[in-house]
Amino acid sequence: MAETAHFGARQVPLIEKQALVDDVFHSVARRYDLMNDLMSFGLHRAWKDALVTAVDPPKRRPFALLDVAGGTGDIALRVIDRGGEETRATVCDINSDMLAIGCGRAGGRITFTEANAEALPFKDRSFDAATIAFGIRNVPRIENALREAYRVLKRGGRFLCLEFSRVDLPVMDRLYDAYSFAAIPPIGKAVTGDGGAYRYLVESIRKFPPPERFAEMIGEAGFARVEFTRLSGGIVAIHSGWKL
Ligand SMILES: C[S@@+](CC[C@H](N)C(=O)[O-])C[C@H]1O[C@@H](n2cnc3c(N)ncnc32)[C@H](O)[C@@H]1O
Repeated sequence: MAETAHFGARQVPLIEKQALVDDVFHSVARRYDLMNDLMSFGLHRAWKDALVTAVDPPKRRPFALLDVAGGTGDIALRVIDRGGEETRATVCDINSDMLAIGCGRAGGRITFTEANAEALPFKDRSFDAATIAFGIRNVPRIENALREAYRVLKRGGRFLCLEFSRVDLPVMDRLYDAYSFAAIPPIGKAVTGDGGAYRYLVESIRKFPPPERFAEMIGEAGFARVEFTRLSGGIVAIHSGWKL
């Protein structure tokens, strides 16, 4: 029987998932940044800042960041701002429309590459850190993306992943679910014209492995000292591991 994958709440043939995900991000690319602000009440900025604090780019030595599924460049721009003059960032994303928005914002400070997280076009041991923010959930074979991140990191390099997680506070979990399902798809429809894309977002969050299991997957890819921190009551979590 053909392998299947979650596409939001639906089970689809594994080989079809990527094209469905690509349709979502082609459809919303132009309004993607605005929608992030509206549906998270601006909180995604604080979560991304927390990820960049964890990356901690040095001020006085060379540092090469790869931001996988980097979309419109939010993480790379923050790392460049936070790091020193020798900080370099590469954004890789499978979606040309998302990259086009990022390119326009970056003004030449960042390299943008259209590529699949499951087959990165970079040499082994090229980067000091690899980040992925709100991207891994969309990748059909998560284990391939983790293995690729491991491969392209230098020894001593760190993998950091910001992703939606599981709300672990009573009452807040029900409020969060009610808000997610009742409000986010209609806001998405009003702003981007595509409510289905935002229904996918909400559903895909519920299908992503719980943080304990995702941490195990990071370890299975070869990373050491794997840990995770929940933010905002577990709405999101930052996972990390080292290539030692
Ligand atoms: C929710 S957006 C996150 C963008 C950005 N990292 C941020 O935090 O704003 C998810 C991104 O993952 C990208 N993506 C989905 N599947 C991918 C894959 N297999 N390889 C690389 N990028 C992928 C999409 O094109 C999209 O830009």
